[in-house]
Amino acid sequence: MDDTSETGNNGIVLKCEGLTKLYTSGLIRTKTVTGAKDVSFGIKRGEIVSLAGESGSGKSTVARMILRLIKPTSGSITLNGRSIYSYDIREYYRQVQAVFQDPYSAFNPFYTVDHVMERAFGLREGSIDPDEKDKIIQSTLESIGLNPSEVLGRYPHELSGGQMQRMLIGRSLLIGSQLLIADEPTSMIDASTRAGVLNLLLSLKKDKGLSVLFITHDIGQAQYVSERVLVMKQGEVVEQGPVDEVFIRPKHPYTKELLAAVPTLYERWDTCR
Ligand SMILES: Nc1ncnc2c1ncn2[C@@H]1O[C@H](COP(=O)(O)OP(=O)(O)OP(=O)(O)O)[C@@H](O)[C@H]1O
Ligand SMILES: [Mg+2]
Repeated sequence: MDDTSETGNNGIVLKCEGLTKLYTSGLIRTKTVTGAKDVSFGIKRGEIVSLAGESGSGKSTVARMILRLIKPTSGSITLNGRSIYSYDIREYYRQVQAVFQDPYSAFNPFYTVDHVMERAFGLREGSIDPDEKDKIIQSTLESIGLNPSEVLGRYPHELSGGQMQRMLIGRSLLIGSQLLIADEPTSMIDASTRAGVLNLLLSLKKDKGLSVLFITHDIGQAQYVSERVLVMKQGEVVEQGPVDEVFIRPKHPYTKELLAAVPTLYERWDTCR
């Protein structure tokens, strides 16, 4: 995907500025919860940026705003220098795809995997020879570590959570998306296959210039996969910068707290003695 001219802005694909989301609930006694407050960051082409923080810190709120699932209370989001709301919705989802914490929610339970993958071609740019479709689906599945004969023809409930999360990454590959919003993309994958998905993201970034917002509460995964990290607490970004700087020389007390909470093998061994 050669889109350097398209991205402009020094290769910045996505830019969030002063993003704030206040949730209000109740009719008479309204209650306001701050989902996100004044969040600003950018993602370049071929860059993986992690969004880390404890549960309820506002990570998914940011993801949902970028995915146009909820509207920001204030602030702006641009894709390739244009407001995300200026894009036709189909065009927007051609560029931006997601992998969710709960991958099953992204699939219609009545459609087989083949159907879901076929529909992805509808969002893809340019037309494609029908005979080619099957070949492309097969090779895409193989490239994300799935055996086509094992998954094709099956329904979402017949697949494991990890297979579903891979399917979502495969779908964005088929569409040729520029940006992947990955909200806890390894939450349903056991430790042994987790590295496979993280490596898949790293290779897509390298080979296809894919940009990724990688949301996690696992500092180890953020460090493994990304070059830059944002740390969120109670809706606000308390620290951001290159991964090694933030995790090796954390400035904010909350980042230090998060790091201290990561169990190390040594501590485990020490307490077991
Ligand atoms: N639809 C909603 N209505 C009201 N409050 C909400 C809504 N969605 C989220 N919140 C609140 O906004 C805050 C941020 O939630 P969010 O889901 O963004 O956190 P998170 O960092 O993704 O957490 P987790 O790691 O558990 O997924 C929380 O206090 C949450 O209770
Ligand atoms: Mg979340």
